[in-house]
Amino acid sequence: MQTIWITGASQGLGKSLALAYAQQGYRVYASARHEARLNSLVNHAYDLSGEIIAIPLDITEQESVTTGINKILHQYPLDRAILNAGTYLRQPVTHYSSTQLQQMVTLNLVGTSHCIEAILPHMLARQAGQIAIVASLAGYRGLPSSSGYGASKAGLINLAESLKLDLAPLGIDIRLINPGFVKTPLTDRNEFAMPDIISADTAAQIILDRLETNSFEIRFPTRFAKIMGMLRHLPYSFYFNLVRRITGDQHESK
Ligand SMILES: NC(=O)c1ccc[n+]([C@@H]2O[C@H](COP(=O)([O-])OP(=O)(O)OC[C@H]3O[C@@H](n4cnc5c(N)ncnc54)[C@H](OP(=O)(O)O)[C@@H]3O)[C@@H](O)[C@H]2O)c1
Repeated sequence: MQTIWITGASQGLGKSLALAYAQQGYRVYASARHEARLNSLVNHAYDLSGEIIAIPLDITEQESVTTGINKILHQYPLDRAILNAGTYLRQPVTHYSSTQLQQMVTLNLVGTSHCIEAILPHMLARQAGQIAIVASLAGYRGLPSSSGYGASKAGLINLAESLKLDLAPLGIDIRLINPGFVKTPLTDRNEFAMPDIISADTAAQIILDRLETNSFEIRFPTRFAKIMGMLRHLPYSFYFNLVRRITGDQHESK
């Protein structure tokens, strides 16, 4: 039985990923802070061909991550990990806050890095393993009301690119996942239009399928990802005008 560790698995995209992998017969180690939610996920998986095991931890605390990972590694080798835990806090510029930026960078970027640090020695020793990092299409370029989130996700994209170059020769398969809008408890808080939004189960299936291919970057949904991909390469003068026109008063995108 193959093993996978998924962070941010108590709800949203991570929960759908955990169930999708358990359905495929995987032994899924599911992590998040809320133990009760993880236990209910474990119960959900009883009649699936794989299993889900709750490993509660807080990725912002290195010690918590190390303790959780040691529990996993004492049982079985880890074949793959999807580092998905993260959050978005809206940052209207009139209430600019370094504290908010710090929260998002600490969770999204540094927290993910804690997870990599915990599993990498094990994977390097085996010269095998896949690590998929969940960033966002919002990390491509600066978007309105999104400076801290965008900075944290741009950091993750750069981190994944760099690790891909360093680790591919050592047998470790680094992947980058850039979702557009996915319906989850996180996006349920948004009051603005979210183009091409898809369900968390659909997003999980796309990720599961594409992690079996050789693509470094997995981005979706197709149309929205293509638009964001084109915007990424525009010269600044065009980019700023176009984004202002597209977002208008909404001034946001995830
Ligand atoms: N939804 C979208 O449209 C969208 C688009 C692009 C990218 N993304 C990215 O996809 C990922 C999942 O998003 P989502 O929409 O599913 O979010 P969500 O519904 O808010 O779920 C976030 C998950 O992360 C966990 N988490 C939060 N802080 C944590 C911590 N300190 N330690 C461990 N786990 C923690 C949460 O569980 P606990 O609260 O129990 O810890 C929860 O399971 C995020 O990285 C997000 O940035 C989402």
